Formats: sequence, structure tokens, C-alpha cells
Amino acid sequence: MTGIYFSGTGNTRHCIEKFIQEYSAAAAVKPLGPIVAIEESASAAKALRDAQDVIILAYPIYYSNLPKIMRDFIVTNKDMWKGKKVYILCTMGLFSGDGAGVAARLLKKYGASVLGGLHLIMPDSICDVKVLKFSPERNRQILAKAGGKLEKAARRMAEGAPTREGLGFLSHLAGLLGQRLWFYHKTLRYSSRLKINAEACIHCGRCVSLCPMHNLSLDEGTITAHGSCTMCYRCISQCPGKAITLLGKKVH
Ligand SMILES: Cc1cc2nc3c(=O)[nH]c(=O)nc-3n(C[C@H](O)[C@H](O)[C@H](O)COP(=O)(O)O)c2cc1C
Ligand code: SF4
Ligand code: SF4
Repeated sequence: MTGIYFSGTGNTRHCIEKFIQEYSAAAAVKPLGPIVAIEESASAAKALRDAQDVIILAYPIYYSNLPKIMRDFIVTNKDMWKGKKVYILCTMGLFSGDGAGVAARLLKKYGASVLGGLHLIMPDSICDVKVLKFSPERNRQILAKAGGKLEKAARRMAEGAPTREGLGFLSHLAGLLGQRLWFYHKTLRYSSRLKINAEACIHCGRCVSLCPMHNLSLDEGTITAHGSCTMCYRCISQCPGKAITLLGKKVH
């Protein structure tokens, strides 16, 4: 089993690692293959090319759609999906409808066989919009629930009956009408809407090294964003000065 994933703020990385660990225990198989982030593009492409067994493809949901960085990874490597067996794991704050389905349709077009899908509710990564920030206690409950669901899904995979969330016609309709139809443009291109508060920035350079898109630079004490933000919220959630925002106005 090979893991290929994108994770902005850590939810998806946590889930794919746990899924593969649980699967390994349930199926009594080891060692398993690599678990690679797509921002390490050469390693991820190699892992995809070399994968003989099941690939777990994992990503967070943005507006009931794929993060642009994940769509680009799938499309850039389109010749490598033929004949691959893929199980799709998505994390989300609340709802996606067909979160797994959006990648499934693309992968099938490129010749992959989609074994199943899993939707996991995790704490929302949008930390500059107050209504989406929950208490630590609520987040603990969310994590515990997701952990239980992951365990069950890994067991089902080991038994040869993988879950199929987000892949059916009704899910497709829910994702389309619930969000994608209205917000499709949000993930179509990389964003140039990142805002940096120069007064709050302490010029530590952390955001520059964290960004999976290499979208930020620090020159003579000024941080500049270059318009290729995949909206992952990694820099926003880890900036020590709370100087970066995207959808909201203040980091909570
Ligand atoms: C730009 C953006 C859009 C999002 N859209 C959705 C959404 O449509 N539905 C949802 O349930 N969660 C949505 N979320 C929440 C994330 O999918 C969720 O927090 C995810 O677990 C983050 O994973 P990560 O920590 O691996 O980046 C969105 C988050 C971001 C940053
Ligand atoms: S992480 Fe925040 S404080 Fe550090 S350089 Fe970037 S914007 Fe400035
Ligand atoms: S600029 Fe920040 S939010 Fe945008 S892709 Fe880079 S780390 Fe993610």
C-alpha cells in the first residue's frame, strides 16, 4: 500500500498515516510502501509510478472540490494512473457531498480503478473565520469520532469490502448543488488574495519555508505573495505574528 497526499494544516496527513497503520494491523501486513506528500513532487511521482498495490490518495476538501495543487498533481501525472488501484480519503470541516467523487471521476478518465472512498470530518482549517473555530473540547470529540471511523474503514479495507463514500450519484448531486456550482471558480486557479499585515510581521521567514507552493518570499524585511496560493492555510495557522489572512480578517 502506497500513500500519496496533500495536507495544508495536518488533518489529512494524520488521517492517512492512521488509516495505513490501522490497515497494516488489521490485515497483518508489513512493511507497507511509502507515504509521500505531493509537494515533494518528484518523490510523489516516483511513488505513483512504482505503486504495485493499492494507492491511498488523500486530500482536504476545498469548496466541495480538490485543492488546486492536488488537481494539478493528478493531471500532470495523468499517464501514470492507468491500471492503478486507488482508494480515496478526504478530510473536511463539515460537508463535501462527493469529495471523493471529484478525484474518482478524474482518475477513472486516466484509466485508474477506484476501489472506494472515505469522508472524515476534522477540525476546520480556516482559522481566520471565527464561526469555524471550535473549542479544544469540541475538536477532541471530532478527532475521536474520526479515529473510530478510520479504524472501521481500515478494517473493511482489510476484509476486501472498502467503504464507498462520496462516489454515488446522489453524493455527486449533493456536492454539485450544495457547493460546487456556486464556488467552482474558487479552486479553478491559484489565489492571489492572501493578505499580509506588514505591521504584525516579525520577518521570521517561517511562512516562506512552510509554503508548499513556494508562493512567498522575504526581501529586505518585506513578505511578498506571488499569486500561486493553493489556500492551504499552513502559513496562516503557523505565523507567530498572526500576520497572514485569506478568507477572513483576523486569525483566531
Ligand atoms: C479554502 C478552504 C475551503 C474549504 N472548504 C470546505 C468545504 O467545502 N467543506 C468542508 O467540509 N470543509 C472545507 N474546508 C475545511 C477543510 O477541508 C478541513 O479542515 C480539512 O480537514 C483540512 O485538512 P488539512 O489539515 O489536511 O489541510 C475548507 C478549508 C479551506 C482552507
Ligand atoms: S511567518 Fe508571519 S511573522 Fe514570520 S515572516 Fe511570515 S508573515 Fe512574517
Ligand atoms: S501562501 Fe500560505 S495558504 Fe497559500 S499555499 Fe502557501 S502556505 Fe498555503
